[in-house]
Amino acid sequence: MNTWGLIKTIFFAGSTLVFFFLLWFYNPFKHVEHYEVDEEVKAIIDNPWKKTESGKTIAEEGRELFIASCSSCHSLRYDGIYIMSVAANPKWKNIEKTSGRPVYRFGTLYKDRFFVPKDVYEAFAHDDIQGLKASLGQVPPDLSSMYLARGEGYLYQFILNPQKVLPGTTMPQLFNPQFDPQAKEKVAKIVAYMKSVNTPPPKESAKRTVMGVIVIAYFIVMGLLLWKYRENLLKRLGYH
Ligand code: HEC
Repeated sequence: MNTWGLIKTIFFAGSTLVFFFLLWFYNPFKHVEHYEVDEEVKAIIDNPWKKTESGKTIAEEGRELFIASCSSCHSLRYDGIYIMSVAANPKWKNIEKTSGRPVYRFGTLYKDRFFVPKDVYEAFAHDDIQGLKASLGQVPPDLSSMYLARGEGYLYQFILNPQKVLPGTTMPQLFNPQFDPQAKEKVAKIVAYMKSVNTPPPKESAKRTVMGVIVIAYFIVMGLLLWKYRENLLKRLGYH
C-alpha cells in the first residue's frame, strides 16, 4: 500500500469510528435526564415486567391506575386506551372492530385492546376532545410515546406535582403524597406502565442484541471474504 492509500484507509476507518462513537457512546441528541427520582421509585420504574404480590406485573397495575386516573383526559392510543367518555360510548366498540386492529407489541397480541388510526379516533371523539379543550384551555396530549419524548424523571416529577414542573398548567395533581402515603408508588407504577409501552421487555431486548451481533458478525465475515476474493482477482489479473 502506498502512502496515499494509507492516508485514505486511516481517514475512512477513523471517521467510521468517530461516527459510531457519537451514535452509541456520546450521542448529542440523546435525552438528558435532569429530574431526580429516589431509589425505591427507580426500582419500580426500572422493572415494569416484575410481578407484584397481587400476581400482576407492575406495568399491569400501572395501566389500571392510568385508566382510573388519567383516561378522563388522556388517551394512550398505542395501547388501546381512549378517553373515558369515548370508551363509554356504545358506538365506540363498533369503531374499534371496523377501523381498529388488535394491539400487537413486542411479540404479544392483546386481543381486547384496539389501535384505531388517529384521524378516525379524532373524528369520532371530536366533541369530547373539544369539551376538554374548552374546560382545560388545551387538548390533553395523547400519551402513547410521552415516555420517549420526556424521559422517566420528568414524567415522575410532573405527574406527582404538575404545577412545580409546569407552572400554570391546567393538569391537576392526582396523587398528593400529603394525603395518600402510596402516592409516589402509584405515580412510579404509571411511569413504569408508560415505559413498558415504549421499550421492549428484557427477553425481547436480549433477542435484539443477539440479532445485532449476528448482523455485524455477518458484515465482518463477508468483508473479509470479499477482501480475500479481491486479492485473488488482482493476482489473476497480474497486479501482484
Ligand atoms: C383533568 C384532565 C387531566 C387529567 C385527569 C390528567 N391530565 Fe395530564 N394533562 C392535562 C392537560 C390539560 C395537559 C397539558 C398541560 C400543559 O401543557 O399545560 C396534560 C399534560 C400531561 C403530560 C405532558 C406534559 C408535558 O410536558 O407536555 C403528561 C405526561 C400527562 N399529562 C400525564 C398525565 C397522567 C399520567 C395522568 C394520570 C395520572 C394525567 N396526566 C391526568 C390534563 C389532565
